[in-house]
Amino acid sequence: MTQIPAAAPAAPALSIHDLRKTYARDGAKTGVEALKGVSLDVMPGDFFALLGPNGAGKSTLIGIVSSLVNPTSGQVHIFGTDLVRNRSAAMRLIGLVPQEINFNMFEKPLDILVNYAGFYGVAREEALVRAEEELRRAQLWEKATVMSRTLSGGMKRRLMIARAMMTRPRLLILDEPTAGVDIEIRRGMWKTLREINEAGTTIILTTHYLEEAEHLCRNMAIIDRGRIVEQGPIKALLAKLDVEGFLLDIEGRLPHTLPAIEGVTLVATDDHTLDIEMPRAMDLNRVFAALGEAGICVRSMRTKSNRLEELFVRLTGDNAPDGTAQPAPQPVA
Ligand SMILES: Nc1ncnc2c1ncn2[C@@H]1O[C@H](COP(=O)(O)OP(=O)(O)OP(=O)(O)O)[C@@H](O)[C@H]1O
Ligand SMILES: [Mg+2]
Repeated sequence: MTQIPAAAPAAPALSIHDLRKTYARDGAKTGVEALKGVSLDVMPGDFFALLGPNGAGKSTLIGIVSSLVNPTSGQVHIFGTDLVRNRSAAMRLIGLVPQEINFNMFEKPLDILVNYAGFYGVAREEALVRAEEELRRAQLWEKATVMSRTLSGGMKRRLMIARAMMTRPRLLILDEPTAGVDIEIRRGMWKTLREINEAGTTIILTTHYLEEAEHLCRNMAIIDRGRIVEQGPIKALLAKLDVEGFLLDIEGRLPHTLPAIEGVTLVATDDHTLDIEMPRAMDLNRVFAALGEAGICVRSMRTKSNRLEELFVRLTGDNAPDGTAQPAPQPVA
C-alpha cells in the first residue's frame, strides 16, 4: 500500500528564533540590550498584535524583520525564507508602514504610489492599476491628484498603508499605525486593515492600545524589557485578567483533600497556606463558606499580584489622557 505523505505544514509568515540585539554604545562592546532572546511564530493569515510599553523593544524587532536594523544574533524567517541568507527574496514578501509619515508632502498620492512601486520594479502600467485599487480601498481615490500636504492626518496615514500595499506584500507590518490619532480616524484605519487581512494578507502591528489589539487581532505577544512575557490568543490573555488571586493563611493544618469549589482553583502551597484563584466577579464569602464547611478556617489573607495586570497598567499608563506616564505598581510582597 502506498502511503500518501501528509501535506507539509505551511511555513509561518514570520518565525523568529532567539533573536538578540545589543545596540553598541559609542564603539564600546557593551550597550543597550534591546532584545534578549525573542522567539515568536506568526502564522499565515493571522492578524497579530505586538504589545509592549515604551522602550520594550517593539521597534527594534520590527526594524530587524524589515532589514533596517542588524540583529546581534538569532534567526528570522519570512514564509520560510531566511532573512539573513536571502535578504532580497525575504524583503519582497514584506510591506512596512513605519510610525513616522515619510512621504514627500509635495507629491500627489497617485505619484507617490506609482513611484514607490516603480522603485520595487513594478511596471508603470501595472502600478497604475494597483494604485487605483489601493487608493479606492483607502478611500482616497478622490484625492489621487491633490497635493499630499493638503490631506488630513487620517488620510495621510491611510496613504502610508496604501503605499505599503503597492508591492502586494504577503506580510504587512505596521509600527504603531494609530499612535496619536483620534478614535474616529483609528476606527477608519481598523476597517481598512481588516479588509486587507480578509483579502489574505498577514498583518502584524505594534500598539499601545489594548482596545486596538482586542478589536483587530486574533493573537498577540507582549514584550517587556526585551523579552516576550506573554503570548497566545487575545481572548485567552484577556480572560486571565479576569482572575484574581489570594494567599490564605489557615488555622492549624490543611486536610489532605481540598474541597472542590466551582470556578475556583485551590492549591496548598504548604500545610497551612492555600493559594486560590477565582473569577473577579465571584463573591469571596462564598469561598470562605465552602472552606468553612470543609473545616478549613481562614486566619488571614493577602492579595496575590497579577503580573499581567501590572504589565497592562504600565502599557496603558503610557497613554494616560494627560500624556503623563504612570509608574508601574509595586508587586504585593
Ligand atoms: N539606535 C539605537 N541606539 C541605541 N539604543 C537604541 C536604539 N534604538 C533603540 N534603542 C534602545 O533599545 C531599547 C528598545 O527600544 P525600541 O525603540 O525598540 O522600543 P519600543 O518598544 O519600540 O518603544 P516605543 O513604544 O517607545 O516606541 C530602548 O532602551 C532604546 O533606548
Ligand atoms: Mg517603537
